[in-house]
Amino acid sequence: SVIPVIMAGGSGSRLWPLSRERYPKQFLKLDGEDTMLQATVNRLQQLACEQPLVICNEDHRFLVAEQLRHLGKLAHNIILEPAGRNTAPAIALAALTALQTSAAGEDPLLLVLAADHVIRDEAAFTASVQRAIPLAEAGKLVTFGIVPTHAETGYGYIRRGDEVVTGCEDLTSVASSHESAYVVSQFVEKPDAATAEGYLASGEYYWNSGMFLFRASRFLAELQAFRSDIYAACVKAVGTINPDLDFVRVDKAAFLACPSDSIDYAVMEKTADAVVVPMDAGWSDVGSWSSLWEISTKDAAGNVCRGDVMQHASQNNYVFAESALVSLVGVDNLVVVQTKDAVLVVDQRQVQDVKKIVEGLKASG
Ligand code: GDD
Ligand code: MG
Repeated sequence: SVIPVIMAGGSGSRLWPLSRERYPKQFLKLDGEDTMLQATVNRLQQLACEQPLVICNEDHRFLVAEQLRHLGKLAHNIILEPAGRNTAPAIALAALTALQTSAAGEDPLLLVLAADHVIRDEAAFTASVQRAIPLAEAGKLVTFGIVPTHAETGYGYIRRGDEVVTGCEDLTSVASSHESAYVVSQFVEKPDAATAEGYLASGEYYWNSGMFLFRASRFLAELQAFRSDIYAACVKAVGTINPDLDFVRVDKAAFLACPSDSIDYAVMEKTADAVVVPMDAGWSDVGSWSSLWEISTKDAAGNVCRGDVMQHASQNNYVFAESALVSLVGVDNLVVVQTKDAVLVVDQRQVQDVKKIVEGLKASG
């Protein structure tokens, strides 16, 4: 069986002032009627899979439970972290929980997803996941690769190696490269700009989408091999799960003692068993205001206006008005975000630095 594991513990600081510590972006309606978390659950409908496991910070437990309840999902599939320790420990908690709550002898496939991605083409998403299933069943750690469009430094890069022949399929049925899978010959998490430029020019690299598929036990075995400290801390933190509780809680002291690291650094850069399945599904990680502008429907002047907005002789702006009229005259390439207690005005080219404001706010208490 396939158990989706939805990671919902990030802080989304580059989308301030809409995304806040108390209310990070995965719980917002940034794109359409559903929140990012709800959209992540909804896009699983075409896949035959179990109820998703959601893993988040315990501060957000009621937010998550409420948003899932609206979709008719049950609350006892929510694992609570006492504090964020990044994605490697989060996925380890989910893998240990999945193994404990599955039938004896079952080793479920985990489809690891981020709660804050936009995916326009659900059919293409489903097709890529289905193509990955036999590979994960055979013990591979599958990542989903996106064809890069620019030298982004905020992503992981995957170098495509030899094509994988799964044995069960006839090679002639592999119509195009989008339907193949490749050995990962190199996985580089967040390279510097010059390195990223080189990767883009070579045409041999995909972006790591941050979505993965593997057997629970395979992930845990690799984590134990490469980061036995994280593995041991998570085993200790999970202990024995009481399935009657609404939420899955872990031992606080044991988990706080766990080192912090991402799955990308802890496992994917190191494992010899990684394969990449390309995904061409209109994916975006909506990490910043400009990426939100890019994926949104624009008016004739290239503006995206949300809420009560008026503009004249202005182009290529993203404008969000929560509770006031926001008007623009004769300005281009800006992001303007108004909320009840904060206003952000930022050049589209500098949206990555919005997190500096958040850091400054934190420092000043
Ligand atoms: N439960 C939990 N706990 N979730 C977390 C934690 C944590 O401590 N930290 C992050 N997450 C969630 C985030 O909410 C997000 O959904 C996902 O895990 C990925 O974390 P990010 O912090 O957004 O990672 P990233 O964007 O810097 O990099 C990852 O994603 C890129 C694509 O978006 C990497 O996998 C890159 O290689 C990849 O290209
Ligand atoms: Mg991200």
